[in-house]
Formats: sequence, C-alpha cells, structure tokens
Amino acid sequence: MMPAMIISPKGISLDIIRNDFPSLRRMRDGKPPIYFDNACTTLVPQQVIRAITDYYEQHPACGGGRSRHWFAEEVIAEIDGDAAAEIEGSRQIIADFINAGSEKEIVFTANASHAINIVALGFPFRRGDVVLLTDREHNSNLVPWLRLQNKGSIRVDYCGTGEDGAFDLEAFRGKLESGPVRLVSMAYTSNVTGCTLPAKAIIDLAHCCGARVLLDAAQTAPHRAMDVQDLDVDFLAFSIHKMCGPRGVGILYGKGALLRQAEPGIGDDGEDAIEPVLLGGGAVHDATYQGYRLLDPPERFEVGVQNYAGQIAAGAAVNYLQAIGMDRIDKRETELNGFLTEELLKRYGDTGWFRIIGPREAAQRGGLLTFEIKRPNAVGITEELSARSSIMIRDGVFCVHSYFNKLYGEGWTRPKPPSEHKMVYRLSLYFYNTLEECRTFLDTLHDIFEERSYI
Ligand SMILES: Cc1ncc(COP(=O)(O)O)c(C=O)c1O
Repeated sequence: MMPAMIISPKGISLDIIRNDFPSLRRMRDGKPPIYFDNACTTLVPQQVIRAITDYYEQHPACGGGRSRHWFAEEVIAEIDGDAAAEIEGSRQIIADFINAGSEKEIVFTANASHAINIVALGFPFRRGDVVLLTDREHNSNLVPWLRLQNKGSIRVDYCGTGEDGAFDLEAFRGKLESGPVRLVSMAYTSNVTGCTLPAKAIIDLAHCCGARVLLDAAQTAPHRAMDVQDLDVDFLAFSIHKMCGPRGVGILYGKGALLRQAEPGIGDDGEDAIEPVLLGGGAVHDATYQGYRLLDPPERFEVGVQNYAGQIAAGAAVNYLQAIGMDRIDKRETELNGFLTEELLKRYGDTGWFRIIGPREAAQRGGLLTFEIKRPNAVGITEELSARSSIMIRDGVFCVHSYFNKLYGEGWTRPKPPSEHKMVYRLSLYFYNTLEECRTFLDTLHDIFEERSYI
C-alpha cells in the first residue's frame, strides 16, 4: 500500500527544503541527482555553506583564545558564545542538541572515528580489562580496540546480534557478569541494519557492573533526538558531516569528570578520566622546561589551530536540523523506507535471491535499507543505477568487514565465478529524499533485473 501523502517536515514545504541544497539543483543528461548515500555523508544546505564561507570571508582568524583581536573575538564568539552580545556559540548549540549538562563536555574532533580513538587511546585501561562490542561494528569502533588488544592492554569481546540485528540483553548481562568488562563500546545505530540499540537498558546494566559506556552515535545523531543525561552515557561520538554539516567535523561528548584527570586539590574524582592523546599548542595552560599544565576540557583535547569554519558551520547544521525537527526527520525517513521496503518485498521477497539484511519492518531500520543479491553477475548495480538514473547508493561491506566475513566466510570478496556472486547494496535516506526518487529507483532497479534475466 502506498503511504498517504508524505508530509513535509514541520510544515516547511519539501520544495523549499530541497531548494536549500545547491547540489540537488545539478543535472546530468537531463536528470537530477538522487542521493541515497546519506549514511556515508549527507548533502549540505546553503545555510551551512554560508557559515563556512562567512568564516573565510569575514574573520579567517584563530579561535581558542590565543589571539585577542577583532577577528579572533568574532570566531571565539561563534564557537564558544558571547553572553554580552547574546551570541550562542556552536559548542552550546551542540550541547543543547544532545542535552549535555555543559558545553564544556563537547569536544570538537575531525570525525566520529577521531572521537572514538580519543577514548580508546586516552582511557586508563588496566591490563586484563575487557572492552565489549557488538559483532557488527564499523571499523572505526573495532580497529582502535583491536590495536589495544594486539598490544596486550585489553581483551576485546563481542555480543552477538541476531540475524535480524536484534540485541540480546540477557546475553549482554551474561558477558558483563562473566568478565572484567571495563568499557562497553557499541554502535547506537548500525550502519548495516539500521537497528538502534536499547541504549538505556545497556547503560544501566553496564553501570551496575562497573563498566563505562561509549556509544558510537554516527548513525543516530542525524536521525533522532538524543539525551545524554537521560541515557547517562559516559561518552558519545558522532559525525557532523553525516547531518548536513561540514566535512572534517565530529563530536566527542564526555561526562565532565571523565574529561578531566584528577589533579591534586581540584576535587574531581577523575577515575576513568581520559588523557588527551595529542598535546601541544592550544591544549596547554602553562609550560616550563620541566613540565606543563593542561587547559581545562574541552580545550585540552583540541590541539593546534582548529577547523574553525567547520566548527562554526556545525552549529549552523544543528540549527538547520532543529528547525525541521528531529521527530519529523525520523518519521519521514521511515515513511519513505516503508514504501521502498514494501515494494521491494512485494516484487522480489519470495525469489530466494533477494534478502533485506536486518529486520523486514522498515520501522526498525529508520532510513536504512541494505539488501543482499545472490545472482550470477550480482556486481555492478551501483554503477548502473548511477549511469542510468543518477541514483547514488553504496555497495560492499560499508566498513563492517568483520561481520560480513563472519556471515559469508573469510575471503568471500576474492574473485569468484559469476555463478557464485553475491553482493550487498545499501540505500540510506534523509529528509530531503522524495517518493518520486524512490519510484525512480524501483523502476530502474527493475529494468536492470529484467535485463540481467533475474526476473
Ligand atoms: C556506525 C559508524 N561509526 C563510525 C563511522 C565513522 O564516521 P566518521 O567518518 O565520521 O569517522 C561511521 C561512518 O560511516 C559509521 O557508520
């Protein structure tokens, strides 16, 4: 059944929203772009582009408090606010977005991978500590931990997820009770299945067993409201570039006490606090030939001249999403995904060679639709969709090599006879996608399947 008329977010017409995105106005061979690769990185609205160019045109100077002049003051105000001038800085905008208790808990990073690495390399692990992941982590939340394991500092363990991506809380409890789990680090929303973890229950259980929790929210933050205080999460990492923001900007949220190591007389408990990995200019309050004193968080984690344009534009991106409304963004993606899912299952669901990875119900997958095709010559569909109808999707393993190696057996990507081909494709939707685009995708895919004699 076709969904009722897709409501445009917050009553703002979809045409107006789409008009904000210059890249959507491009044409190739008379066809507009159909961008379904939003889980990788999203398109950027003119409000964010303007914030980036404003920085370079108006005040391309150093933020962070080292320079004290006209341009620097403006940069600092746009990032860290200026109460007297009633300017809310982007750090505060982001703190409000995730309901952090203080903007001092917001560290600007280069991306989500950088944020996760800051925790992995800075957390005071003791030999024998266990870090618990799911079995479907993005390499960015796997490889940093494997490196520590290879060095002998920790042991990595995994919680299996069901075929449909469901998380087994009882099995998780078992893992917590059976080993010295020091940190749980999991993708809040999977970039393969689109499933979102029952984060609050996970965090409650982990805390009961004395473990800290890092959520990789790279695929959550762009799509739904999050409340770090309600979750009581210890660390949270996400990518601004996956939420209409500039490339090269991510966020690490950390509870105040976990960003500041205990210093004599300061009174923070500091236990489990992370140490900055990179040190140098901009992170240090004072230094002598013998030693140094770090600045308070978050500055101690932001070493060197920063991506100020990106940090300012991050606030513009969050404001843009807030103006639309996170609930509406979530609802709209699920509606579009519901339509696509129903049509795909109706057409190919019983063929035996088409399978959605994760739950069949779109409601559990947000804007993500990943499917497997097991047919001779199953490769090359991404390129064909792009060439024929300017449709942009992803194929491959989406940086989740470990899971696909488990699923298909190691070495499955090595060249094989066409009869043994299988391929995984992923569409990731965002609020600016349309029903019309979904129809074009379905029709083009159908043509490709017919020409390949799949149907
Ligand atoms: C679940 C998940 N974690 C981490 C990342 C890495 O994000 P970034 O490119 O911002 O480092 C991604 C990117 O696709 C992701 O999907």
